[in-house]
Amino acid sequence: ELRTEHIEFSGEIMDRVLRSAILNSNVIDVIQDNKRPFDELMSKYRCAIMEIETKFKVLNEQYLLQYDRNPIETIKTRLKSMESISRKLAQKGKSFSAKSMEENLDDIAGVRVICSFQEDIYTLAKCLLDQDDIELLETKDYIKNPKPSGYRSLHLIVRVPIFLQNEKCLMKVEVQLRTIAMDFWASLEHKLRYKKEIPEFEKDSLQKELFECAQMINTLDQRMEAVKNRLAAGGQWEKS
Ligand code: GTP
Ligand code: MG
Repeated sequence: ELRTEHIEFSGEIMDRVLRSAILNSNVIDVIQDNKRPFDELMSKYRCAIMEIETKFKVLNEQYLLQYDRNPIETIKTRLKSMESISRKLAQKGKSFSAKSMEENLDDIAGVRVICSFQEDIYTLAKCLLDQDDIELLETKDYIKNPKPSGYRSLHLIVRVPIFLQNEKCLMKVEVQLRTIAMDFWASLEHKLRYKKEIPEFEKDSLQKELFECAQMINTLDQRMEAVKNRLAAGGQWEKS
């Protein structure tokens, strides 16, 4: 069975937000005065995450029947916290409101799909984007064009409809597709990114080391894929 993880965003958004030292008092006022619209919006994003997650689970299931293997290793989902929503809006110089969140942020709802092989990433992305209720807003292919850090993944910003009692809403979701090896790398690199107490020279050295690891990981992904393809072609294999 497919393992899925959800980094739970507690129902009691407000309690946490109010306890958070990061939020300034203005933001807290805005949320307190408009608790309902914020709760409703976050609930819609949770529904959008469910829709996208289900779509990938369905594709995984079908792929298993067709090719006798699962392309997806894990699906991780996350809803952006109010803390980082407020921080990001402030960084962008945007106001803090439910409307502003929807307009200015693409990654409040996040779905990360972790695959065994690079080619599964493109197959799954194509299958998702071919569905007639999915609208592609943006693609960032950091596999073909890795970031200077060495980061690789395929990012899609999509819009998906969710159907509520009396309305249909189109919600933005950020989908990140990557291999197990890319995910392993990104998790470690993320730790370096957010460690404040490391001296600058050590940070530079670790960045260089991680960049080299990223190249090795890419080579590993390609060689593993080649092995898988040779195994799959086993039928045509002849002794010489
Ligand atoms: P953000 O303001 O971070 O959203 O930048 P952006 O809108 O240009 O988005 P981008 O698609 O470049 O990256 C968004 C997400 O990808 C981040 O939140 C991370 O999860 C991941 N990511 C991007 N670059 C890196 C990187 O160099 N290292 C790691 N570990 N993750 C990255
Ligand atoms: Mg982003």
